[in-house]
Amino acid sequence: MKITPVKNKTFGAVVTDVKLGGLSDNEFVAMEAAFLEYGFLVFPELFPSNEDCIAFGKRFGELEFAATSVLSNQDVNDDGSRGEILDIDSQRMRMIIGNEAWHTDSTYKPHSSKCAMLAAVEIPEHGGGTALADTRSGYAALDQATKKRIADLSAYHSNRYSQANDVGDFPVEQADTIYHGEAYLRPLVKVHPQTGIKNLFIGRHAFAIPGLTRDESGALLRSLLDFVVSDEARVYEHSYRPGDLLFWDNRSLLHCALPYDYSKSRIVIGTRVAGDETEFAYNPSDPEAEAGRQALADELVLLHQETTDRRYKATTASSGAAAF
Ligand SMILES: [Fe+2]
Repeated sequence: MKITPVKNKTFGAVVTDVKLGGLSDNEFVAMEAAFLEYGFLVFPELFPSNEDCIAFGKRFGELEFAATSVLSNQDVNDDGSRGEILDIDSQRMRMIIGNEAWHTDSTYKPHSSKCAMLAAVEIPEHGGGTALADTRSGYAALDQATKKRIADLSAYHSNRYSQANDVGDFPVEQADTIYHGEAYLRPLVKVHPQTGIKNLFIGRHAFAIPGLTRDESGALLRSLLDFVVSDEARVYEHSYRPGDLLFWDNRSLLHCALPYDYSKSRIVIGTRVAGDETEFAYNPSDPEAEAGRQALADELVLLHQETTDRRYKATTASSGAAAF
């Protein structure tokens, strides 16, 4: 197994000469150490099977979902056949296109995600990659005044907020789906539970910092995100070749999907590992959940009024497709 840091970046490594299927315990230890140090690992043209992805994911924890095509614009059935390319107006495409804004996975759930992987099956000729950003070196590069200002701040996280704010999409609230009515409070400065390194825990799902006005909160979250991605050493864009596997730590990086022509197949097989107790905020039944629920309800009322001129398909979706 060979682990090579990505050149001219503060993070990331390429792993070659390895097979996920027959990973020895020693190789796993080395790989986990690389995952923690570099934040993301690329396995070029590995062609992992679904079973490989599931077994590898399970070595890191409980899976949120396992080897699914839910993040593709075309389903792959169990027998290998494919469904139709999804309508751009379907709720799933709205979710997929919403993910073109920087985020950390599942911060809108009681447990946010530990790590995630995407295995590329079919990628359009242009676009359709994944970008990653290093929030550890982003935090380290902040000035002392900003570090002091944000030290004890937290933000609520909701994907109903992010869908509305990013793409003017207002999915119907349903308690047993990802479009529930809760918003989870998480610190802006995250201490990584395994490395102890601080990073900025921000991204598209974050809103409404308690103690700040709505304008101050939005401006601060935007400025922190802009700062992280302002240095190209902190941003890596992966253009997939079929068979590539990308694996990242959701507790120290941001990532986003890159746009493509949505009429072309983009098939990636996704596996997501749930966070352990270190990623737990609270449950909907806990008393502290009420403040998040209220913050989200208030925010959605305002976004309903503010996004009438940028509803879904009017902005992100059409401009993304038009780029190709
Ligand atoms: Fe994601």
